[in-house]
Amino acid sequence: MRLGVLVSGSGSNLQAIVDRVQAGHLPGVSIALVLANAPGAYGLVRATKAGVATACVDHREFSSRQAFDAELVRRLQDAGVDTVALAGFMRILTPVFLDAFPGRVLNIHPAILPAFPGVHAQGQQAEYGVRLAGCTVHFVDEHMDHGPIIIQAAVPATPQDTAQSLGERILALEHRIYPQALAWLASGRITVRGRQVEVAGADYAGGGRYWTVPTLEPPFDADWAAAS
Ligand code: GRF
Repeated sequence: MRLGVLVSGSGSNLQAIVDRVQAGHLPGVSIALVLANAPGAYGLVRATKAGVATACVDHREFSSRQAFDAELVRRLQDAGVDTVALAGFMRILTPVFLDAFPGRVLNIHPAILPAFPGVHAQGQQAEYGVRLAGCTVHFVDEHMDHGPIIIQAAVPATPQDTAQSLGERILALEHRIYPQALAWLASGRITVRGRQVEVAGADYAGGGRYWTVPTLEPPFDADWAAAS
């Protein structure tokens, strides 16, 4: 799998993927190109430090989203990219892009979709007072933060949480689930039927049967059925 990673900012998810590739945890995966839409994206620095090829295509130099996307496609195809990971890429992609990599574009979003799509999801979750926050890796379609879901992770959110504190907790999980999703895709274990993404051999019990935040206290933690 020749991966292209698209970034706009810090690139910590890119770093997590680079680290897993370098550790040998993503067999068959190479990062062919890191592409940014902004020259200042720190992800470009991370890629260069890791010896990964980089390019910057500034969206402000294009008159339409389609023209920008066509240039992205050209750069990625020139680098032999067959799979694209959006990692904090802050531009909406058009069919010009998606049709060039059908079923091969992934995104990570810092919320349990379909809750809190769009920007500033971490702060919105903190303000809303959710008790389970989290993140999602999904396939990308033409709607924002919408395509079929590969994996989701939940973290507890407390009444004291801020965008910053909750965001850090979510980000730590992002760095685990994105490489995992890519490993599944690279090893051919993913099948998509409509909105259902099935990972062959994966444990769908989620490690436990349920999770509440706050934790259930006695007697509500025990199995119980009302006498009828
Ligand atoms: C992450 O929270 C990701 O979920 C969102 O943008 C942020 C990117 O962070 N799409 P980084 O650039 O990977 O550090």
